[in-house]
Amino acid sequence: MKKFYITTPIYYVNDKPHIGHAYTTIAADVLARYHRLKGDEVFFLTGTDEHGSKVAESAQAANKSPQEFCDENSAKFQMVWDRLNISHNNFLRTTSLQHKQGVEKFLNKLKESGSIYESDYQGLYCTGCERFITEKELLDGLCPDHKKAPEVLKEKNYFFKLKDYLPQIAKLINSGELMILPENKKNEVLGLIKQGLDDFSISRESVKWGIKIPFNDSQITYVWVEALQNYITGIGYGADEENFNKFWPADIHLMAKDIIKFHALYWPAMLLAAGLPLPKVIFAHGFFTIDGEKMSKTLGNVIDPEALVDEFGSDAVRYLLLSQFPFGADGDVKAGNFVIQYNSDLANGLGNLTSRVLSMAEKYFDGVVPEKDFEFSDETAGIWHQYEDAMKIFKIDEVIEIIRKFNSFADGYVERQKPWQLAKEDKEQLAKVIYNLLESIRHLALMVYPIMPDVAEQIFKYLNQADWKSHNFKELIDWGVLEPAAKVEKAKALFPRLEK
Ligand code: MSP
Repeated sequence: MKKFYITTPIYYVNDKPHIGHAYTTIAADVLARYHRLKGDEVFFLTGTDEHGSKVAESAQAANKSPQEFCDENSAKFQMVWDRLNISHNNFLRTTSLQHKQGVEKFLNKLKESGSIYESDYQGLYCTGCERFITEKELLDGLCPDHKKAPEVLKEKNYFFKLKDYLPQIAKLINSGELMILPENKKNEVLGLIKQGLDDFSISRESVKWGIKIPFNDSQITYVWVEALQNYITGIGYGADEENFNKFWPADIHLMAKDIIKFHALYWPAMLLAAGLPLPKVIFAHGFFTIDGEKMSKTLGNVIDPEALVDEFGSDAVRYLLLSQFPFGADGDVKAGNFVIQYNSDLANGLGNLTSRVLSMAEKYFDGVVPEKDFEFSDETAGIWHQYEDAMKIFKIDEVIEIIRKFNSFADGYVERQKPWQLAKEDKEQLAKVIYNLLESIRHLALMVYPIMPDVAEQIFKYLNQADWKSHNFKELIDWGVLEPAAKVEKAKALFPRLEK
């Protein structure tokens, strides 16, 4: 059995979950569910990033202790992921004991490796970014992202010898051992190495809310350094070595392009220093705007994923978010189009086809599956090939396109065959048509399962296939799983039409 370890970033708890966070998490869930379907042993990790000055300041502004603030906000993320049917195997909180112990072990390893040294540091620090920022990056003296002047920080810190590891990382990226995807992100990362990067400080003297450096009590671990380590502590590094050894290295770290530098350079360098294998793929998808504008509290255009679930249901939200623009590219989300797309793709698409086919099976054959027919067998095998190829390279939008095409193909078949006429003229052909359509919706259910798990289960139930998971993937993608004489049910509307 193959293993598949996938991660999302751990999200800052100073914010409520918004659809940017949901986007990455849903995408990771689709990949995790697809791999489980294939029979892989999957570990899917997500969680919250709870230390550092940004969180401490937000807690103070809310008149709460940092821990109380983190508990409340981390719970919000967990609740929203529940509502979105996210199937993570662990939700890692950086304030947990499990994380702290793993971080201590890892930092000690870095120390032993000789890759850490002490030095004075003076620089401009942007709390919003939780990083030092250069003069060059400022716009009118302000951080371009947070529109705030950075603070001048001067203190004694521990530094990590990043520069020593960069040539080796460039080699690993070029050879494909460390894959940075999509391709343009790989070039960006190689460009950063070429420009030259400084060693970075891994501790803070002035920050209080965080994990103490195990070999110096007066220093707190830099929040980004310990945050990256969630990817190993979340599977048991320093606590459950068996699980850790089973799943590490990660098969894919998924994130948006905003944090690629930390993942593609800082993290691999620290892993090399600690003598641990590197993740196989770092995939940075694009950043999206809302109706052409950056999502921000000030603009008031932040979309709450829970409100979307209330309006459309969790399956539709998952589908709608992932089908807005190619996965990997930047894009724009037009919130006003959600209802239109819901009605056309889901209510009139999959929902309508399913209820039409099942009610014809009921009307013409009393819901009894007719004799098998194999007209679509080869065609469907070809579609599964395309589906698997797209999933392999994380092209979730292509997967959605393949599903749409298969759905329209089945719609077209109904229109061409006109079962309502065949019912009067050719019962034998009608039986073939209904069998082909029933099998088609079974295949569609399987294809949509990673994206819309509840609806898929519902279709399987209507098809009297509630135990579908007892078959392996190879059997399921074969044509002809529905057995003649079995009973199917009439469907209720899977996606009731929405008016707006
Ligand atoms: N805490 C760090 C990550 C540490 S991982 C070791 C952090 N947190 S964050 O809350 O700011 O989350 C950033 C991530 O949220 C992005 O990389 C992306 O996954 C997701 N997104 C936030 N806004 C988004 C968009 N507008 N568009 C796409 N993804 C978005 O950075």
